[in-house]
Amino acid sequence: MEVENKYVTIKGYLVGPPSESDFELRIAVCVLKADKGSNDVIVKNLCVSVDPYQINRMKNYSSSQTSTNFATRLVPGEVIDSNGIGRVVASDNSEFAEGDIVAGLLGWEEYSVVRGGSWLRKINSMEFPFSYHLGILGSSGLTAYSGFYNICKPKEGEKVFVSAASGSVGNIVGQLAKLSGCHVVGCAGSKRKVNVLKDKLGFDDAFNYKDEPDLKSALKRYFPGGIDIYFDNVGGEMLEAAVANMNAFGRVAACGVISEYIDTGRRAAPEMLDVVYKRITIQGFLVSDHMNIMADFISTTSDHLRSARIHVLEDISPGLDSAPAAFVGLFRGHNIGKKLVWISDN
Ligand SMILES: NC(=O)c1ccc[n+]([C@@H]2O[C@H](COP(=O)([O-])OP(=O)(O)OC[C@H]3O[C@@H](n4cnc5c(N)ncnc54)[C@H](OP(=O)(O)O)[C@@H]3O)[C@@H](O)[C@H]2O)c1
Repeated sequence: MEVENKYVTIKGYLVGPPSESDFELRIAVCVLKADKGSNDVIVKNLCVSVDPYQINRMKNYSSSQTSTNFATRLVPGEVIDSNGIGRVVASDNSEFAEGDIVAGLLGWEEYSVVRGGSWLRKINSMEFPFSYHLGILGSSGLTAYSGFYNICKPKEGEKVFVSAASGSVGNIVGQLAKLSGCHVVGCAGSKRKVNVLKDKLGFDDAFNYKDEPDLKSALKRYFPGGIDIYFDNVGGEMLEAAVANMNAFGRVAACGVISEYIDTGRRAAPEMLDVVYKRITIQGFLVSDHMNIMADFISTTSDHLRSARIHVLEDISPGLDSAPAAFVGLFRGHNIGKKLVWISDN
């Protein structure tokens, strides 16, 4: 059977901040039948993830600028692939049967053909809402968990600073830090977000970085005894200010540099003399380096969820048509928690 498959694509490569007019919805035909011997799986998409890093795949980098080559460049006119959850509607793959709920690399589209069934995994338990497998139990959760425990190596009582703290990764890092007995301060871009961090998620303190003309002094105020751990989601001036306020043997997990994704001109950098004299470790990492701790991560996080020790923040936009606005909103601070686009209920 053939169906119309609505999908989202970029019209051309992006320069500067994204806007909704950079995207368009197109329609292709999808055959809901997997060819014999192909191992392909055809998935009806239910919910897809919207992530800041995708913008780096929408730019036309020259070869000397392919700092983002961990993810391949998107092609204008073709579907924007992304993590997602869906229901199998046809399969030539012995590991997947019609009706299975699966997570994997799908796309901003109604139906995805997953060649060879690669990167697809079955969700066997419906103990938690399936959207959690894109956030708290998915890539965002594993990023927070691996970055905080493997890179930051926290000790009880240490002082932790998290930027983009109400975002998908940041809110989980802050909650894990509290569970580890640390003192946690987060920053975010609105009063409403600051209230969520303090009142709902249990951060010790939080501030709106947009209200602070001098970030170094702001951090001095919030950390009079210095910062031991900085979980950096934004880079730029915030990284510079955090390093200036770090204690000896402090650790920085360089998770992302969203402040530079849409403004390649801004390149504030930490004072290297501070890094040397204070013996600070700044380590970049990718979640894909830490797949070996997946089982431990799922089991620990599931326990936290069962005992309500951790809150889930999801921010869901309805309908595939909302994907461009949802994506653009990440760079305007619209989301609180994991940004998702809901495509279909079943
Ligand atoms: N290393 C890895 O493997 C890995 C994996 C996943 C994500 N990441 C990175 O982690 C970071 C957070 O990702 P996420 O998925 O959790 O996104 P997110 O925090 O849920 O969404 C983006 C948030 O970033 C903040 N922001 C946007 N532009 C900013 C700017 N110019 N300066 C400061 N803050 C800005 C906004 O919040 P405010 O209102 O607070 O400004 C926005 O809501 C990103 O840098 C991402 O690329 C890395």
